[in-house]
Amino acid sequence: MKIAYLQFTPSYLDVTGNLDRAGELLAGADADLIVLPELFTSGYHFRSTQDLADVAEPIPGGPATDRLAAWADATDATFVAGIAERSDDAFYNSAVVVSPNGYEGTYRKVHLYYKEKTLFAPGDDGFSVYELTARNGTSYTLGVMVCFDWYFPEAARSLALQGADIIAHPSNLVRPDCPRAMPIRALENHIFTITANRAGSETSNGETLTFIGQSEICDPDGHILIRADHTGDHFETVKIDPVAARDRQITAHNHIFQDRRPEWYAL
Ligand code: ACM
Repeated sequence: MKIAYLQFTPSYLDVTGNLDRAGELLAGADADLIVLPELFTSGYHFRSTQDLADVAEPIPGGPATDRLAAWADATDATFVAGIAERSDDAFYNSAVVVSPNGYEGTYRKVHLYYKEKTLFAPGDDGFSVYELTARNGTSYTLGVMVCFDWYFPEAARSLALQGADIIAHPSNLVRPDCPRAMPIRALENHIFTITANRAGSETSNGETLTFIGQSEICDPDGHILIRADHTGDHFETVKIDPVAARDRQITAHNHIFQDRRPEWYAL
């Protein structure tokens, strides 16, 4: 199967323009699973709660989920993409999963970063996996986490212990260290990871955040299969066999999950 990220630079609050731009970059896409950045329709560094309220949408039923469903229908790919979600009076920094069968589910970011804490409610539904099928008939299990979740090894571990073969990781990274850390998340869980980051910068109330690009796909041995530049638009595809993530027997005597000793972990 082919897995992919789309890195691009959203324009602040321009939902329709961002959907159109992503659609142009995805035209003719040939992939089974495509990951887009966190908050890809709205931008990230909100200048006010009102700005967030103006662009947050219900999931499903909002313009972004509808457009993702149209892309999934047209390309036969599954999409994972970050969207500002409105649910009753709350806002969530969410990622939606949309397959050719339609809406699959939503992940609400558990670990909020920096000023996100002043805007969004933290997700309280935990980490979920999705059973999906690639175009060649291969079944695979997909897990989802968003950006800063990378800093908490428990997030990727929770997904891996639920059987995920691949982690989709929509991101708006500003810290420089995630591209070094994701190969370790991949290695320690023996899992594929797809980090889709954005590029560019945004200024809110005098503070500028610069997003580091460097979207990347890692394999279960912790190798970086592809990594984008710091800047610019990049749609990159890698061919993988998700079954390669399932053999966690690393020596005749060691299985990285069965060898865990949770009774000695202070959880
Ligand atoms: C982040 O979680 N967007 C840094």
